[in-house]
Amino acid sequence: MCGIVGYIGPRQATPILVNGLRRLEYRGYDSAGVAVWEGGKSRVVRCQGKLQGLVNKLEAEPAPGMVGIGHTRWATHGRPSDINAHPHKVGGVSVVHNGIIENHVHLRQQLEASGSKFSSETDTEIVAHLVAAELSSAKDLTEAVRRALTKVVGAFAIVVMDDAHPDTLVAAKKASPLVVGLGEGENYVASDVTAILDETKEIIFVEEGDIVTVTRQGVSITDPQGKPVERTPTTIRWTAAQAEKDGYRHYMLKEIHEQPRAVADTLAGRIDLENDNVTLDGIVVDTSNIKRIVMVACGTSYHSSLVGKFLIEDFARIPVEVDLASEYRYRDPVVRDTDLVIAISQSGETADTMGAVQLAKERGAKVLAISNVLESSIPRLSDYAFYTHAGPEIGVASTKAFTTQLVSLTLLAIHLGRQTGTLSPERARLLLAELLALPNKMAELIEHGAQLQVIARRYGNSRGFLFMGRGNQYPIALEGALKLKEISYIHAEGYSAGEMKHGPIALIDEELPCVVLVPQGPLYEKTVSNLTEVRAREGKVIAIASRGDKEIGSVSDEVIMIPNTLPELQPILSVVPLQQLSYYVADHKGTDIDQPRNLAKSVTVE
Ligand code: G6P
Repeated sequence: MCGIVGYIGPRQATPILVNGLRRLEYRGYDSAGVAVWEGGKSRVVRCQGKLQGLVNKLEAEPAPGMVGIGHTRWATHGRPSDINAHPHKVGGVSVVHNGIIENHVHLRQQLEASGSKFSSETDTEIVAHLVAAELSSAKDLTEAVRRALTKVVGAFAIVVMDDAHPDTLVAAKKASPLVVGLGEGENYVASDVTAILDETKEIIFVEEGDIVTVTRQGVSITDPQGKPVERTPTTIRWTAAQAEKDGYRHYMLKEIHEQPRAVADTLAGRIDLENDNVTLDGIVVDTSNIKRIVMVACGTSYHSSLVGKFLIEDFARIPVEVDLASEYRYRDPVVRDTDLVIAISQSGETADTMGAVQLAKERGAKVLAISNVLESSIPRLSDYAFYTHAGPEIGVASTKAFTTQLVSLTLLAIHLGRQTGTLSPERARLLLAELLALPNKMAELIEHGAQLQVIARRYGNSRGFLFMGRGNQYPIALEGALKLKEISYIHAEGYSAGEMKHGPIALIDEELPCVVLVPQGPLYEKTVSNLTEVRAREGKVIAIASRGDKEIGSVSDEVIMIPNTLPELQPILSVVPLQQLSYYVADHKGTDIDQPRNLAKSVTVE
């Protein structure tokens, strides 16, 4: 995930910037850079790879000066490279940016048409061009940034410096974290408290739409219209280790809470409301030659593939098979050149998924990768790559990577369905509108997590759990069971609710909690019948149901209400309480949540 640090004061900036970036290293990044001003102009030093590479470069060619900005980049637009690393400088204007500029294609075309020359593939460079253009007529740097930002759609935290305004840093925030650190005759700006906690504990949390002007003497904040606003500083009492997790006790909990943002980022710039369609970052999959889709993946990504099957078959009416990558690669599968293989891998490095992709390619299929890591091995090996924009996931148990995979698969399925003509514009419009509403619904759902804490304590000492669902909730039952066993070490099984009578029903007694996914949808009644079969055998039922369901309370021991959305999109919401349940059960048991025993985040061996 990208990180930002900025400094203005009486000391040398470079060591402060590098130290701040080092504090953010744990978040994952692929390149780093600084811009430091001295003697009328700033020097930009950037380097792909680890921070140490930048430090070595700075030792060879120092960047002295007492004003500067620094950045660690986690690529989203444009591959990891020296030229795509931040800061981006246009004229005298240097910019660092976290987030995604949604209208970057349009803005870049406009700027190029009026003569701007780009030196990188990033969306960030656009901001530098826009600010540089505004500076010719603006009264100061703050004004230029404010005007430039009126043209930008998306999520961002930016910090800007300009060679002609060396006494000022200007920062702005929209839907991406930004903080200001206060010192004596010196001030700081950063994307995260962690970056500047070694320097100051007096922090202003910048709010939505704020534009911040930082000088040595002080900090002034205005709203997007230029009206001054007051923000009260907070004294931070967290340790650096706590700050790395934004105050959350574990990365997993932090990542659960990051999901609304991650989903919004995955949707950003990809929804084409004018044409009731989706733009897949320039990927056009020619459906005329595709007779079948085969999805291959491991672990949590396998579960998202199972949901993907429902979406693609429903919207595009192309038959879909889903296979575990470790099975597919060794069972001599039938592969045709009319197959599209979709490989899903959060890390893009899983050995079995890579083996499956290699095999599919050797046998003539086209491969589309869905991954969270730009330029990782699986996307590089594939014909097409589509990226989830979840940001790096540190907790071993996958959460935001999973929900953004579901969102990506929905986008892909809509795209395919519009191509085959089996998804009407009206239905696509409805789906797109509901997708855009998901981040808010998810945020509201996550905020009600306290109920899960109570349930986790109540059932957390059980020897086993059963998770059940039907249709597209069945893969979510599998995912709920996987989450629970991964981090709490309690045996859990995910089962199709309709299949329960063929075996697992024998397990049910008053000791076995059954989590039943029963949101509104075409299979609601049938799932309720299965749920009552559990109840009739004294099983304890924890129902995940839609808000407004008045019946479910009378047949369940616990009910967790989730917001309403289209049944096709329900899995994206219904998985959230299962993540929270696993987290709180594990917390109750005191296991190592972020690094559970025997598991690895990325399994690069067979
Ligand atoms: C490991 C992780 C799982 C993950 C699986 C597949 O087992 O612990 O959380 O789902 O690998 O990883 P991928 O990066 O290919 O999605």
